[in-house]
Amino acid sequence: MHDKHQQFFDSLAAEWDLMFTAEDLELLNNIVEQLNVQKGMDIIDLGCGTGILFDMLRRKVGDEGSVTGVDFSFEMAQKALRNFPFPNINVVDADAISLPFADSSFDMAVAFAAFPHFSNQQKALDETHRVLKKNSKLYIIHLISSRELTEMHQKIGGVLAGDQIPPEDKLRKMFENSKFKDVIIEDHPGLFLAIATNSK
Ligand SMILES: C[S@@+](CC[C@H](N)C(=O)[O-])C[C@H]1O[C@@H](n2cnc3c(N)ncnc32)[C@H](O)[C@@H]1O
Repeated sequence: MHDKHQQFFDSLAAEWDLMFTAEDLELLNNIVEQLNVQKGMDIIDLGCGTGILFDMLRRKVGDEGSVTGVDFSFEMAQKALRNFPFPNINVVDADAISLPFADSSFDMAVAFAAFPHFSNQQKALDETHRVLKKNSKLYIIHLISSRELTEMHQKIGGVLAGDQIPPEDKLRKMFENSKFKDVIIEDHPGLFLAIATNSK
């Protein structure tokens, strides 16, 4: 299926890396520092785009670990591969709601600036839960609050107009439905961070 989001993100891939300021990268790096990434971990990056998180993560997991980016925009996935041709980086052109990986394949999942765009967020959580190992964590990260994000998408309009993070009570219920536990949500100007632990 080639939906409107894919076309939209395909069209942005060539220039995507120019969107990030040095300040964004510094903030992101500070968040990644707090994720408890260990050497040897296998991490899945959902909606990886051109791989903005790859370098931060791949240095932490080292050669024994890996970072697998998933993006359903072919152009984004291609650019990510070109940007990071390293043995511990994999990029897969796939939809987050149907992940082409075996159960319990990963030690951590991250979704930076991507979750609001998933066409079926509950399915994406189900799939993420399935491919994560027991007790491993999913981190949903944004450098703005959920309210700021909704306003930004409404302002941009078009295919993004309705993309949002669900209200906290709904999101908690969705995590619960997908069998995630110990959910922590931080949501204030300049940051949205949801952390959920896999309970198999
Ligand atoms: C706002 S961009 C963020 C990209 C990257 N994480 C970053 O911050 O630079 C959202 C990305 O999610 C991808 N995406 C949206 N829906 C997706 C889905 N259902 N499955 C996989 N990727 C998806 C888009 O193609 C796009 O590259």
